[in-house]
Amino acid sequence: MQSNDLWCKYKRFKLLEPSVTLPSVFLLSFLVVSCFFYLDYDGYGGTVKEMAARVLSHGKRPEGGGRGSGGKCDWLDGDWVWDESYPLYEENDCKFIDEGFRCGKNGRPDTLYPKWRWQPRNCDLPRFDPKLMLEKLRNKRLVFVGDSLGRNQWESLLCMLSSVISDKKSVYEVNGSPITKHKGFLVFKFKDYNCTVEYYRATFLVLQSRPPVGSPNKVKSSLKLDQMDWTSSKWRGADVLLFNTGHWWNHEKTMRGGSYFQVGTEVKMKMKVEDAQKIAMETVLKWIHDNVNANKTKVFFRTFAPVHFSGGDWKNGGSCHEETLPEFGHPLAPLETMPPYKVLKDLLSAHSRTFPSFNLNILNITLMTLQRKDGHPSLYYLGPNAGPAQLHKQDCSHWCLPGIPDTWNELLYAMLVKTKGTSV
Ligand SMILES: *[C@@H]1O[C@H](CO)[C@@H](O)[C@H](O)[C@H]1NC(C)=O
Ligand SMILES: *[C@@H]1O[C@H](CO)[C@@H](O)[C@H](O)[C@H]1NC(C)=O
Ligand SMILES: *[C@@H]1O[C@H](CO)[C@@H](O)[C@H](O)[C@H]1NC(C)=O
Repeated sequence: MQSNDLWCKYKRFKLLEPSVTLPSVFLLSFLVVSCFFYLDYDGYGGTVKEMAARVLSHGKRPEGGGRGSGGKCDWLDGDWVWDESYPLYEENDCKFIDEGFRCGKNGRPDTLYPKWRWQPRNCDLPRFDPKLMLEKLRNKRLVFVGDSLGRNQWESLLCMLSSVISDKKSVYEVNGSPITKHKGFLVFKFKDYNCTVEYYRATFLVLQSRPPVGSPNKVKSSLKLDQMDWTSSKWRGADVLLFNTGHWWNHEKTMRGGSYFQVGTEVKMKMKVEDAQKIAMETVLKWIHDNVNANKTKVFFRTFAPVHFSGGDWKNGGSCHEETLPEFGHPLAPLETMPPYKVLKDLLSAHSRTFPSFNLNILNITLMTLQRKDGHPSLYYLGPNAGPAQLHKQDCSHWCLPGIPDTWNELLYAMLVKTKGTSV
């Protein structure tokens, strides 16, 4: 079953060339249908049936490159399709990538994963145009705030934008800080455009610092759910503000490490992580209302980026190193089963009822990203000389670059340049 499954996938992907000729369409149909029958027997029918329908409909690109029938097109309703012209930049040409995300250099042997493009079903995403984006950002600040997944996306954008800059020295960190393993914040300037693309590390968005005096011994630090991260004063005045948080909202990265939740002066020893995240997110929304000028700044929340540890967790043997292809068709895990996703979603929908005039944009990448179990560094994050990591110590939560965060940025680009009435 295993090898036949792979064979079907392989054949299908080989035939997904931009110009699909008539005979190959027939061959493709035949292969897909036979794959379907074979796998249906094994109980994978639903997924594969959907997959077959999608593959056939993607044999040709949508007409006109434009809108679906109903005017507005849903960019999120789509699929990953093979595209020879990807990735948008080469790993070797971009100096902004952390060692941990340089999967190719670190020895990852398969090379297909950066070659899938997100294709909405009824329209096209605008092709990413770095010059146009830089022009839109002229004299402006684009600010990423969040955890290392935000940094992953920020580095991806630096690569995507700088691919059109010939004088590489004209893109630099304003304080001369190196990009590797930097904990605080980094501000990169594109000199020719007088714009900055900035990253602030704020894993929880709210403040983590020393606990109040007299706290129990096991409380090493506390998360002040009602106070913003110390870097927040620096985010103010950004023209585009993109938040993410999620991967640290769990027991492992809080209480287990001695970091407890605090509201006011009181450390809440028993507070549940989900409840804490809710309070923190409300603090963030309030901060936005009090500090962000909605006429000037476009605010985005990037939704949770799923992890793909199969057969365990990140510390006890979970793995993704054998994944070399996306999962086609709708993933099985419903979004609502991911607490960090759900907390954000509930909060944003409550928010839009309370403050309909303040437009928060959602960079909703969770579902499309769930399909990309093949996009993680897995064993290849230790650097070019260290060799692959041990099997039980895999990184199935960050993303190789070039790779999946490039697509998040294509979506961000689409939302920035193609939305009516946008000043950025
Ligand atoms: C460069 O951009 C900043 C805003 O980030 C602006 O205040 C400044 O005036 C700009 N400089 C020039 C020379 O346009
Ligand atoms: C934003 O623009 C609206 C309409 O132009 C205006 O009424 C409002 O005062 C502006 N708000 C700020 C904070 O500048
Ligand atoms: C994100 O997109 C998915 C798929 O289109 C949708 O089901 C979900 O409700 C969206 N979530 C948010 C927070 O908008």
